[in-house]
Amino acid sequence: MLEHLDRLAPDPILGLMAAFRADPDPRKVDLGVGVYRDERGETPVMQAVREAERAVLERQTTKTYVAPAGNPSFNEAMRTLVLGADSPLARSERLCAVQAPGGCGALRLGAELIRIARPEAVVHVSAPTWANHVPLLSNCGLKLERYPYFDAATGGVAFGAMLSALDALPPRSVVLLHASCHNPTGADLEDAQWREVAALLRRRELLPFIDMAYQGLGRGLEEDAYGLRLLAAELPEALIATSCSKNFGLYRERVGGLMVLAQSGAAADAALTQLVRIARGLYSMPPDHGAALVAHILTTAPLRAAWQGELATMRTRIQQLRAAAAEALAAACPSKDFSHILRQRGMFSYLGVSAQTVQRLRAAHHVYMTEDSRINVAGLRVETIEYFAQAVAQALAQ
Ligand code: LMR
Repeated sequence: MLEHLDRLAPDPILGLMAAFRADPDPRKVDLGVGVYRDERGETPVMQAVREAERAVLERQTTKTYVAPAGNPSFNEAMRTLVLGADSPLARSERLCAVQAPGGCGALRLGAELIRIARPEAVVHVSAPTWANHVPLLSNCGLKLERYPYFDAATGGVAFGAMLSALDALPPRSVVLLHASCHNPTGADLEDAQWREVAALLRRRELLPFIDMAYQGLGRGLEEDAYGLRLLAAELPEALIATSCSKNFGLYRERVGGLMVLAQSGAAADAALTQLVRIARGLYSMPPDHGAALVAHILTTAPLRAAWQGELATMRTRIQQLRAAAAEALAAACPSKDFSHILRQRGMFSYLGVSAQTVQRLRAAHHVYMTEDSRINVAGLRVETIEYFAQAVAQALAQ
């Protein structure tokens, strides 16, 4: 039976990660997979996480199952982190929350819930969107379509085209939105644009499915949640997928969650029963360790403050790298405009070069990025920026 299986090409992002690891060249620069790196090129365990690990391990008396909905203290803490400490919605019975194995697990749970609620629902994702959104949302049988989002000419959002496309969708369509730090482009909606999107979704009776994978890495913890909080406050229903991979540096621990905002407490209760049933059939229960760490950090005031400080350092470093990269590229490639890198937010930017240039950068200069020329800005280092800019100039000139 198994001898007829096709051999698949590697995943575009994870395959790049493996290729980079296998490259012995000491000059290599990894701008591929979206993980934060410090000035030494490392992805360290955050200090707040180390402290939480000590406390959690000391107190833990059992490894028995937690629950299909995950760690209750984590779910509780995430409601206020995402929706805001003062938000009545965070405490509302209209909202239910389950822990999931990473943001990916949360996205899949949400997709499965939509399919049960409305099997014919179409999910509309931005063009472009994170490559893994496609299998995560469509492998359960949902249809996926794309709405215009990125304007390559300005490096910003093609807002007029986006609004017109959303305005033409049939009611009860699902619209996937990136809460902040759009992956792969780094082009985010401004607050005023979020207000227009919220009004449109409400008027057209569209369901927002919000992916919040980078809270705190764009403008700030509260600022990055502006659009999400607005949509949750103004719309009757919403799905919110969260990830703690990047902002807590807990990538391999697989920590995330799904929140469902329903029209009533009874509907939220019903959604919760569906979610735990879906989880039971997919992976039974999420892993606890990372969620226990996040819960401990968020509910221990000094640790929470320390984590916020570390997150602010990461955010500032990314902004500094953006400025330095834009300046170095402007000097090395005067005929091409790279100023969008400075205006975009979060870990990613599109460099805006062809797939051939991307291949040349990798083959000749050992600079790795996805084929669409997405760069992980956090993968740069002050000492590699000049090398990177010169490599881009040479690859463009070939
Ligand atoms: C990325 O976009 O590189 C990250 O979200 C990692 C991944 O799983 O793709």
